[in-house]
Amino acid sequence: MTREKNGVALPRVFVARRIAPEALAMLDNQAEVEVWEGEAQPPRALLLKQAACADGLLTMLTDQVDTELLSGAPRLRVVSNMAVGYDNIQVSECTLRGVLVGNTPGVLTATSAEFTFALLMAAARRVVEADRFVREGRWRHWQPDLLLGRDLHGATLGVVGLGAIGREVAVRARAFGMRVIYCSAHRHPDDEARHGLTWAPDLGALLRESDFVTLHVPLKPATHHMIGREQLRMMRRHAVLVNTARGPVVDQRALYEALRDGVIGGAALDVAEVEPMPPDEPLLSLPNVVVVPHIASATVATRTRMAVMAVQNLLAGLRGEPMPHCVNPEAHNVILSLQAKNRRTAPGAAP
Ligand code: GLV
Ligand code: GLV
Repeated sequence: MTREKNGVALPRVFVARRIAPEALAMLDNQAEVEVWEGEAQPPRALLLKQAACADGLLTMLTDQVDTELLSGAPRLRVVSNMAVGYDNIQVSECTLRGVLVGNTPGVLTATSAEFTFALLMAAARRVVEADRFVREGRWRHWQPDLLLGRDLHGATLGVVGLGAIGREVAVRARAFGMRVIYCSAHRHPDDEARHGLTWAPDLGALLRESDFVTLHVPLKPATHHMIGREQLRMMRRHAVLVNTARGPVVDQRALYEALRDGVIGGAALDVAEVEPMPPDEPLLSLPNVVVVPHIASATVATRTRMAVMAVQNLLAGLRGEPMPHCVNPEAHNVILSLQAKNRRTAPGAAP
């Protein structure tokens, strides 16, 4: 049964996972809401079926919004992704169809930067390996050369991509006494002056100079396998690679070989080329790798803020109001021209 408010049918919304209750509550009386309660993502067939009759979708980074989905979703007007990244969405296809896409930047920046630092330190000081050592009953003596790691202070951190998160990682690294170099699509003289960062003219220069390398670029065709065999060979033999961006930015097979063969020193990964990472992934057989399951933004406060922002984007888009964070505002022009065309072709319209 279709629910109404003031005689107008409420928009239909599919929420692809259980999100913070305060965020869901914002949809009360605003939309007819279906929430997928599963722990895993909704099965593809179910997502397509829900999209077929939805005005809005609230998606996670695991839900693929592509031509197939969009072609079968004639009413769809808004896709609100609860993530800062949106490589799971074919944005240009959404734009063509006048579908607005939202994301959740800003609210997760500091949380993700902190977690990047947690991984950096865990790898530098072998925290996970050391914990395993104790649990395995191997802590029998204090030894002067037990589990030696590497200092952060005095070392060089290479930040690849100086967006919001990359910048916050750089600022933290400076507070830890690291030298920070960065490469980015654009040079940022203000950040260089304010935070004492050094610009690297290209990725190769950054890789050759860094003791630690951390990735903060979105996944796009141009960044796919940005770190491959050739780039790993440019890195220092003791260097540690940290990836909290997206798995496919790194050629994972090449990374495994580089770690196995001592081409680089270690890696700490929040993301993988295939998520979830299968337990038989070769990387997991190596001691110099830390892997965690895509949790950089996973604090209670931040996941709540992301959910609230995703709902705000969704509701604004459905009401035809400006979305707090829209990644394809140009879709508005498409919407206007589609509306004009519909008026012209409507029965009874003036020629
Ligand atoms: C997480 O990876 C995000 O993009 O928010
Ligand atoms: C976005 O906030 C980014 O810096 O990648």
